[in-house]
Amino acid sequence: MYYPDSVIEDVRASNDIVDVISAYVKLQKKGGSYFGLCPFHNEKTPSFSVSPSKQMYYCFGCGEGGNVLTFLMKYENYTFQEALQVLADRAGIKLPEQEESPEAKREKDLRQSILEVNKMAASYYYYLLRGESGKTGMDYLRGRGLSEETMHQFGLGYAGRGGTNLVKYLRSKGISDSLIREAGLANADEKRGMYDKFWNRVIFPIMDANNRVIGFGGRVMGDGKPKYLNSPETKVFDKSRNLYGLNFAKRSKEKTLIVCEGYMDVIAMHEAGFTNAVASLGTALTSRHAALLRRYTEDVILSYDSDEAGVKAALRAIPLMREAGIRARVLNLKPCKDPDEFIRKMGADAFRERLDAAEGSFSFELSVMEKQYVLTDPAQRTEFLRQVSKKIADFDTEVERESYMQAVSVRYNTSMDGLRQMVTRYLMTPGDRRDAGQSEERPVSPAGRKKNRDEGLLSAQRMILTWMSEFPGFYKSASAYITPMDFPDPFCRKAAGLLYEQYESGKVDPAAIVDRFTDPEEQSMAAGIFQADLPAGSREELRGAMREAVRRVMEASLAAQEEDGVVVDLASLQQQIERKRRLDDLGKMQIDLGPETDQG
Ligand code: CTP
Ligand code: MN
Repeated sequence: MYYPDSVIEDVRASNDIVDVISAYVKLQKKGGSYFGLCPFHNEKTPSFSVSPSKQMYYCFGCGEGGNVLTFLMKYENYTFQEALQVLADRAGIKLPEQEESPEAKREKDLRQSILEVNKMAASYYYYLLRGESGKTGMDYLRGRGLSEETMHQFGLGYAGRGGTNLVKYLRSKGISDSLIREAGLANADEKRGMYDKFWNRVIFPIMDANNRVIGFGGRVMGDGKPKYLNSPETKVFDKSRNLYGLNFAKRSKEKTLIVCEGYMDVIAMHEAGFTNAVASLGTALTSRHAALLRRYTEDVILSYDSDEAGVKAALRAIPLMREAGIRARVLNLKPCKDPDEFIRKMGADAFRERLDAAEGSFSFELSVMEKQYVLTDPAQRTEFLRQVSKKIADFDTEVERESYMQAVSVRYNTSMDGLRQMVTRYLMTPGDRRDAGQSEERPVSPAGRKKNRDEGLLSAQRMILTWMSEFPGFYKSASAYITPMDFPDPFCRKAAGLLYEQYESGKVDPAAIVDRFTDPEEQSMAAGIFQADLPAGSREELRGAMREAVRRVMEASLAAQEEDGVVVDLASLQQQIERKRRLDDLGKMQIDLGPETDQG
């Protein structure tokens, strides 16, 4: 789905960034900007700034930045479409209808209706729990140590006895039987007709990351079977794509997410202050879960039950995490069974200690494997090391393989050479390697690339862009010396191109430039550049710094041109000579900084 730029601009311009962010962050006015505590990292003094004139935000502490759309994308983890839709709704703008087949439209309407019905059911269960007939449910949940507040936060409810209460309620609200069944809330048979799926159970509404109720889990209050009953898969409920508690955990400031098995585990952890906990929905973790997790974090702590099934589940989850690019660690909860029990018995502080001590996933795998061998027996020891080498050979990069060999060499007191030989053998075995034939290492991230560059030159390019967005007079003078093509850094070159374009069209709007970058890291960089703090100093000093920055960029550009080699034609040779001459008289560049302000 693509919207024209003009629509995006319209939505953005109709949502003042200060208003929008104020709903999430307490902001205080200071000078021309607003400041508050950054919602993207932990801090005690505000370094998160929002500029009403530029319609951008930037955190001087962690470098997160962007415009009103990117804020929602990062804070709520919305896709661009979702953020656009939310802001359009907020401003009462109707986005142009997208082409849709009648079938797709029906499908979408059905999903919408199921979500509506789910919401009605959730509030019905919610009120039952808190009413007269909900006493058994309430006693059960209180007995498990939950506070009112927590029950409210997770929207816990109760499905009463009787077996047709919900069906009757929904019918009274005009919901059709077929929709009730599509939502998985009732079954039907010849004898009884329609009857509730859940009865006499406490209810855990399952919400997706955007707080929509997509299904339910119901627990018996006691030892009945099955212990949990869950909504069947419906048009909106896909267990392999959702995680319980993610709607809250995604807002946690912790860098990690804790992944556990049970609803009660998530709730107990959140209540104890570990608000970054999520659970799979009664199924094994899938690669889709891993991809979902990766949208929010690179670090996961697996917090599975201490029994054999839990260990197996962890061993299955680890490779999925690796493939998704997530570092996993494994929590040891012994002697307790699960996080809920651990927190009740040992307390939150002890749990925190266990989190800090969580074992790296590779080390965890080793610990499990080594139990299957008698390592004092030479033959078994060799077999063990063979299996370990096979595992190491599975890692994509040389760096990883080397560091894991080191770890194994130390831990099992074995020689690096021997290990390397074995690992190499498995590397060579075709078919054993997932990435056989494509031996390149993973591409370096933009952040990694950036480090290798000349820092001074990079900061000169950025400062030029900052100044240009701030002082039209500087743009006017400097653009006679340098064009966007002179910026050696690809990112700055693109940003410069966009800024020059805006100046030429007569409408300078840095927030619009942010939208032209799709990578969140680049959006932050753009916001950082256009909202950088200008160092204090006299106007003459500022002009000097400006000339110096322009000089650096010109020199780098000329040097690159010369490095590129032979100048092919006379015209470009002349141009080059002309530019060298311009470089020499750069000192004479006049810069109009406009009327004196208190900024310096
Ligand atoms: N589960 C399920 N159906 C079952 C048993 C379990 O769907 N019959 C899922 C539920 O999502 C449950 C999770 O598996 O939360 C973990 O199960 P278990 O460890 O047995 O339950 P706990 O979460 O520990 O629940 P409780 O503390 O209430 O016993
Ligand atoms: Mn439990």
